[in-house]
Amino acid sequence: MSTETMTNVPVHISMIMDGNGRWAKERGKERVYGHFEGVESVRACVEASLEYGVKYLSVFAFSEENWNRPEEEVVTLMGLMVKAMAAEMEALNKNGVRFMVLGNRDRLSDEINTEIDACMQMTADNEALTLIVFLSYSGKWDILQAAKKMALEMIRHPEKREELENMGVDGFDRFLVTAGIPDPDLIVRTSGESRISNYMLWQSAYSEFLFVDTLWPDFRKDEFRKALESYAKRDRRYGKVK
Ligand code: IPE
Ligand code: IPE
Ligand code: MG
Repeated sequence: MSTETMTNVPVHISMIMDGNGRWAKERGKERVYGHFEGVESVRACVEASLEYGVKYLSVFAFSEENWNRPEEEVVTLMGLMVKAMAAEMEALNKNGVRFMVLGNRDRLSDEINTEIDACMQMTADNEALTLIVFLSYSGKWDILQAAKKMALEMIRHPEKREELENMGVDGFDRFLVTAGIPDPDLIVRTSGESRISNYMLWQSAYSEFLFVDTLWPDFRKDEFRKALESYAKRDRRYGKVK
């Protein structure tokens, strides 16, 4: 149980984990070394989320655009995902963490999809924290697949036409891969880049953003706490007058 006190803790905090390659390069090592070290940062953020009572922690691990990286790096990264899932799942399960992977899973190998399914099934009923790994994900892809799903529903169920035509923005949420998950309250991007790189475009409409210079492998509990402190001071107005 938590020994830390923090006010105004975000329900959903999300990380654009960037800077692994540069972290490794600074040490004269291969980029993959940074990815390995980055897994430790995810573990630290999971532990901190449990301590502070964050209910949803999501991490952007691999974008649709990242498929365009050299094959060797893609293969290594996917191998690392499988290994990390296999190694961490027991501890995650013991700590009450529900594990999810969201993204274009059609592009993932059978090996990784099998591991993902096993981990998701094993942890499906856990309630302390939901850890979401965005894999082969992009915001535009998500909106497009949602629009296609909606169009298909209209074709298959003509009786729903009126309901779908009258649907508001909240109704569209159920077609996105994040259906049922609250929108991110805070999105943190590491490594000094001030862009969203096609992450949760729809879901981040009213998210708070924090851009930090720290490279992802250096983003540990202390940085996590600072992010929560920054968020706690924000005044979210949602277009209203306060
Ligand atoms: C983030 O680190 C991990 C992924 C995008 C997969 P990078 O690999 O982008 O590292 P930099 O940005 O090149 O330093
Ligand atoms: C964003 O990092 C994607 C992930 C963290 C998975 P990138 O390193 O791919 O982003 P760009 O290319 O610098 O925008
Ligand atoms: Mg990068």
